[in-house]
Amino acid sequence: MTPETASATSTAAAAFAAELERALAALDVERLGREYWEQDEFLFVPDFLSGAAVARLLADVERLEPGLNRNYIPRHKKGGSVSHFAIADGGPALLAFYRSDGFRRFLSGLVRAELQLCPDEDPHACALYFYTEAGDHMGHHYDTSYYRGARYTVLVGLVQDSSSRLLCRLHTRQEGRAPRDLAVATTPGSMVIFNGDKVYHGVSPSEAGDRRVVLTLEYVTSREMGRLKRAFSNLKDAFAYFGIRSLWQARGRRRATASSV
Ligand SMILES: [Fe+2]
Repeated sequence: MTPETASATSTAAAAFAAELERALAALDVERLGREYWEQDEFLFVPDFLSGAAVARLLADVERLEPGLNRNYIPRHKKGGSVSHFAIADGGPALLAFYRSDGFRRFLSGLVRAELQLCPDEDPHACALYFYTEAGDHMGHHYDTSYYRGARYTVLVGLVQDSSSRLLCRLHTRQEGRAPRDLAVATTPGSMVIFNGDKVYHGVSPSEAGDRRVVLTLEYVTSREMGRLKRAFSNLKDAFAYFGIRSLWQARGRRRATASSV
């Protein structure tokens, strides 16, 4: 990285961090906490980020989109993905969002657990999803944790020029409550937060000409993962999301982390 690029990168990260602080300060944390728990650990915040904050994230999207990995698993998913590794290299505002201590403090308070970042070698720690071709979609699933603890998902809407919706079924594992279905338009600046083990969710298919882009951030209560689960998780990420090269990139990042401690 040249000195000029490094300085542009840290400026972009700092500018976004300031926007994020303003957005966090404006939240009614108590009300949101009540809503989150009332909805069995699901929350939708329609206007979390300002237009200026979204614009900073979109500048990263524009830079990263040409390198996205497209994937198709019949009857399960079709779409484009950009991994944490690519974001770490070329998405300073996106990475600043994921790593923000203030945002993680807010989330930890909301979900009543001490949340941690996923390890550096996890390609899903923060990622972009693109639903930009006809039929792009995601089958219903839970964001089950392969880590030893719980896993929480944050989705941030960046582009929603699309008929495609985030489909969520709440209360699926809660005794005495009937399931409730939601179809969420993840409009720019909106945010969804949920416990991956509780919300059954998917994405409805896009039509020709549609464009929907979402940022996903993953937080965990433990960074420990068994070796077999790690191997399975890496393979799933490589085939279903980020491409085979993500396997080598993860290995490189594990080595880099090991040699830097
Ligand atoms: Fe998911």
